[in-house]
Amino acid sequence: MSAETKHPPEIGAFFQRDRSWHPRGLTPDYKTSVLRSPEKALLSLDNTISEITGPVFGHGILGALDNDLIHNFAKPGESAIGERIIVYGRVLDERGNGVPGALLEFWQANAGGRYRHKKEGYIAALDPNFGGCGRTITDEDGAYAFRTIRPGAYPWPNGVNDWRPAHIHFSVFGHGFAQRLITQMYFEGDPMIWQCPIVRTIPDKAAVEMLVAALDMQATIPMDARAYKFDIVLRGRRSSVFENRLEGN
Ligand SMILES: [Fe+2]
Repeated sequence: MSAETKHPPEIGAFFQRDRSWHPRGLTPDYKTSVLRSPEKALLSLDNTISEITGPVFGHGILGALDNDLIHNFAKPGESAIGERIIVYGRVLDERGNGVPGALLEFWQANAGGRYRHKKEGYIAALDPNFGGCGRTITDEDGAYAFRTIRPGAYPWPNGVNDWRPAHIHFSVFGHGFAQRLITQMYFEGDPMIWQCPIVRTIPDKAAVEMLVAALDMQATIPMDARAYKFDIVLRGRRSSVFENRLEGN
């Protein structure tokens, strides 16, 4: 079920924060988050004009393969190893309206759970044909799509044996650089989601489920790729959980 239909559209001009929907400021089971947890009461600052009017992204900044992680790092004629998928959906506001012109950036581990990053320490092999990042811009309906391979789960140093479920990181830029939100997408049916200490910082199961992309066999490409649908809700009482907006929305 999509985010639009799961929750009725918000009405009115002001949306009360719902602190039971978003993670608490301090979540000790996610150990590296503790030192960056706020210790003092929050202050609300207005955006400056330059923050909210900054650059508007256009399709001119995109390269031809920016939305194709299967090929955008691969040698000519080759492709990344892994389960070929399409990720698609819409960026929505609090009323369920599409948000056009939003720059989406996404990054992920390869099919074995390994990032192409100099600080990466996991023993899984690098894929010489997979870089792990891409970008696209939402169309006039707020829709987006990209091709990639399904990332693998990977272990991380938190508890004795903690693993991240398969996930794709998303950054959403609005119309200025101050309007940046970051979240993660998970995959329907993955039992590792509910084991993850980062996911478990989200108190409401329904909020987690909004981060879980649904397998959509209607949007597949036969003999090529399966499809996962992931909508991102920017605002409202039932917004997506963003990890750089811990205080809610
Ligand atoms: Fe990750």
